[in-house]
Amino acid sequence: MKKQKISFDLTIFDDLHELSAEHQKLMLSAIDARINAYAPYSSFQVGAAIQLANGEIVTGSNQENASYPSGLCAERVAIFYAGAKFPNVPIQAIAISATSLNHVVDKPAAPCGNCRQAISEYEIKQEQPIAILMMGETGQILKCNALADILPLAFNSSFLD
Ligand code: THU
Repeated sequence: MKKQKISFDLTIFDDLHELSAEHQKLMLSAIDARINAYAPYSSFQVGAAIQLANGEIVTGSNQENASYPSGLCAERVAIFYAGAKFPNVPIQAIAISATSLNHVVDKPAAPCGNCRQAISEYEIKQEQPIAILMMGETGQILKCNALADILPLAFNSSFLD
């Protein structure tokens, strides 16, 4: 038997201004994208902004549906759009921000498991890490350097061979 510990580097920022200029701009785009969330059921509005290697920023927001599972998270709206519009441009980072009509979101919004899996696919495809920046409406901002850090032992296409 052998035991192995899996760990990763998490950077914690107390304020938006501590981020690099590029990441600040990306997070501001995610905050902006929250406005277009369609969240009549949860009142939880999420914005996601993707930094592409060609300088473009692609954004998305959560889009809910009366048939709840038919809705989609902001991260997947954004990453599928990036994949559809810029299929061969590497994704460098994703910034996520969330707010709620019901309470103050004062802790960083972490991508759900389905979104981690979706982002993982693109990270593996491009063979370059995708940094993940997470924020609520106020409070700290978290950064991890790669999606793989927050989805250890991920399912990937090698299992299908
Ligand atoms: N949501 C996101 O858009 N991203 C996440 O990472 C977590 C959850 C959305 C889905 C749903 O519209 C609402 O937030 C409440 O779960």
